[in-house]
Amino acid sequence: MPHDAADFAAWVYRDFGHDFRQYRLGTLGRRLRHLCAGLHLDGLAALRDWLSSDPRRIDYVVDQICVPVSQLFREPGTLGELRRLVFPALSSFPAITVWHAGCAAGQEAYSMAILLDEAGLLPRSRIFASDISAGALAQAARGLVPAAQLGAAAPRYRASGGTGDLARHFTAQGDQMRLSRRLMSHISFVRHNLATDAVFCEANLILCCNVLIYFERPLQCRALELFSDSLVRGGHLCLGQRETPIGAGGRFAPMPGSRWIYRPTAQPRPPLVLPFLPPDERIP
Ligand SMILES: C[S@@+](CC[C@H](N)C(=O)[O-])C[C@H]1O[C@@H](n2cnc3c(N)ncnc32)[C@H](O)[C@@H]1O
Repeated sequence: MPHDAADFAAWVYRDFGHDFRQYRLGTLGRRLRHLCAGLHLDGLAALRDWLSSDPRRIDYVVDQICVPVSQLFREPGTLGELRRLVFPALSSFPAITVWHAGCAAGQEAYSMAILLDEAGLLPRSRIFASDISAGALAQAARGLVPAAQLGAAAPRYRASGGTGDLARHFTAQGDQMRLSRRLMSHISFVRHNLATDAVFCEANLILCCNVLIYFERPLQCRALELFSDSLVRGGHLCLGQRETPIGAGGRFAPMPGSRWIYRPTAQPRPPLVLPFLPPDERIP
């Protein structure tokens, strides 16, 4: 029976394949206590029984552990830097791929579609927005935000360099606002786990904001390696304002003039050609 968060994570990994073993234990323990309280369960052994009795409940448990919440134009300083420093470089590519890793309910990807549209880059852009949470992705794919959230996002949009009316990208639907179909058609939502899955796209720009803070250093390293392997030459990585690529063994360096955007450093690669062997050492 799991007695603490680490035991519980090991059990979930063994029985369900979701790997929380390298999540920060303090945060994981808090999330699990919160989940037990919400379900009126008396501790992790009871949570394990509850989950074992219907394994489909694992998606709910994952959502509760991950807290997939976000905001439109959440970090306007970073988005402003992207507009000023990265978009001019993106505009030199005939096709642009952006990957949001840990996109939660989609607001980050919606914000990116708006930024790219306003920069005239959307027609040649494809945005992949991935998350571990099936519930968050299902919500993200609807393209809806509460009207009140849109009003609250307007000052952040302007702080990021937006000059128009943010609401023009949405249409009203009851007390919700729907992102325009044209913008939505450039976003694909993908279930992808940074702890266990492999590279799935070649990206010009990767954003992974407010995700690495939940990971222990080895898992941060894994995610950063994945990003380094996914970026095209000349690509950029953008992290949350409380995160750095410190665990990446020098794979990334800050972009001059930016606080939150990084570029891959030149890494020694394995040789592309086989070493020369004298004829008498060659296998006949
Ligand atoms: C705090 S939210 C950040 C959302 C958004 N990037 C932002 O900055 O507003 C963290 C997100 O990371 C996701 N996440 C956590 N672990 C993950 C993993 N191993 N692989 C992919 N996504 C993960 C969670 O489901 C959640 O949606």
